Amino acid sequence: MENTSEKKKFYITAPIFYPNGDLHIGHAYTATICDIFARMSRLDDRSTYFLTGVDENSLKIQKKADELKIDVMDYLDVWVKKNELLFEELNISYDQYIRTTDKIRHHPGVIALWNKLNEKGDIYENYYEGYYCVGCEGFKTEKDLVDGICPDHGTKPDFIKERNYFFKLSKYADQIKKVIESDIIKIFPQSRKNEVLSFLEHGVEDISFSRPYKGQKNVILVPGDKSQGVYVWGDALVNYISALGYGSLGQDLDESPYNMFWNNNDSQTVHVIGKDILKFHSIIWPAMLISADIPLPKNILIHGLMQSGGRKMSKTIGNTISPTDIMNKIGAEGLRFYFANNIPIFDDGEITEDLIISNYNSGLANGLGNLTNRLIKMVISYDVVINLKEKFKDSELYKNNTLSLKKTLQDFNINEYANTLWKQLSAIDNDIQTKEPFKLFKTNPDEARKIVEQMIKDFYTIIHFIQPILPRTVAVIVEHIESREMPEKPLFPKVEKEL
Ligand code: MSP
Repeated sequence: MENTSEKKKFYITAPIFYPNGDLHIGHAYTATICDIFARMSRLDDRSTYFLTGVDENSLKIQKKADELKIDVMDYLDVWVKKNELLFEELNISYDQYIRTTDKIRHHPGVIALWNKLNEKGDIYENYYEGYYCVGCEGFKTEKDLVDGICPDHGTKPDFIKERNYFFKLSKYADQIKKVIESDIIKIFPQSRKNEVLSFLEHGVEDISFSRPYKGQKNVILVPGDKSQGVYVWGDALVNYISALGYGSLGQDLDESPYNMFWNNNDSQTVHVIGKDILKFHSIIWPAMLISADIPLPKNILIHGLMQSGGRKMSKTIGNTISPTDIMNKIGAEGLRFYFANNIPIFDDGEITEDLIISNYNSGLANGLGNLTNRLIKMVISYDVVINLKEKFKDSELYKNNTLSLKKTLQDFNINEYANTLWKQLSAIDNDIQTKEPFKLFKTNPDEARKIVEQMIKDFYTIIHFIQPILPRTVAVIVEHIESREMPEKPLFPKVEKEL
């Protein structure tokens, strides 16, 4: 059995998704970049744990099931099946898919954490009044609203006055500021770190941590008070540790995922999120952890949001793009390529089908796909003998790319990583043009073979590092190089844009 205890640890989490409609391309993006980082970490021989899942315990979901006149659990089971199929197609290699309705794994973690905060004296009862938007599942202040309407959902929030339990978030504001300033929790990119610090500068108030329980299914009841249900912070955020066994088996066993991947100074922990859930993750979650004496996450990576028609893509606005529609045109690997190479990881960006197709054609159909064909054709026609595995790790290219892999697992600049590899592919393409081995072969076949041999070695090294982005394609290419056979059909057929 593999000895994993000596290896470096890497724990990456995708947000757990709301099952209130089909996932759109923005959600697929979040899950895919997490997958690419997880695969990069495995390629770097780290012991890796990748978590994703579904955020099921919400009023929105109950409403959705009521609208459809079906039992909420039936609705959720169908949604999860569908989501698993999408993730299978996208080749998302998660180690666990957590469901917040899981009473064995998740609920004990939520209860354990609540009890810890309570023992610390950080939970108290009070009345809350304000405007509540069901779409956002949150209270809104006057300045969040435009003419009394929620700008994200176009609906008028309800005015609510109710008894809640509160969490003493304000008590931890200074500590959170310190851990963020000093990069104990490192926030990427710097601009988002500044945003959180400036938010903390303006002061934070205690937050409402429960809701009156009105019989909704799946709500986790507050320990010792059946009239209140745990609100989203105390429930959804806890998935990151409940999944590893916090509150259940995990804390007492040395080799449990919790002790290996979370409660371990040497484990690199990374939450990947979109900017819309930045405050929850960088202020509320760390405060809960400090209160409960639990280690903090080491990194929070905030990616931009994809926009369509100039607005944030959202199910409620109705401007979503379906990942399945795009995959029907350019395949799952085409979409993975687009996410890694063409979406600027730290910025918002407009996404259109046209853009996706032109990038696919240049980077894959004319790029990697074409180059693969040219190289294999030369290997076969010039009878080039290759022994790829031998010493392939000794080359400068391999060493440089290893450094770039390690750096990317530190700074998460996936675009730089991908662009470097695609530039290296272009360099081989250019070499074919300038060194013209196809002409040289007629006069000096040995020299031509040597050139092609070097090219194929470099190519093999580059695709080794492309594996996290295009796992299926690289496996197919390696098979063809090793068996010295041309692919029967193009790896990436050119796609015509619709007029
Ligand atoms: N359930 C909460 C997260 C709780 S984590 C403890 C949630 N769910 S969500 O389904 O609405 O969003 C899941 C993730 O998708 C979030 O990180 C969000 O930022 C991301 N995205 C939502 N829309 C997106 C785009 N248009 N573009 C990129 N990412 C997108 O929030």
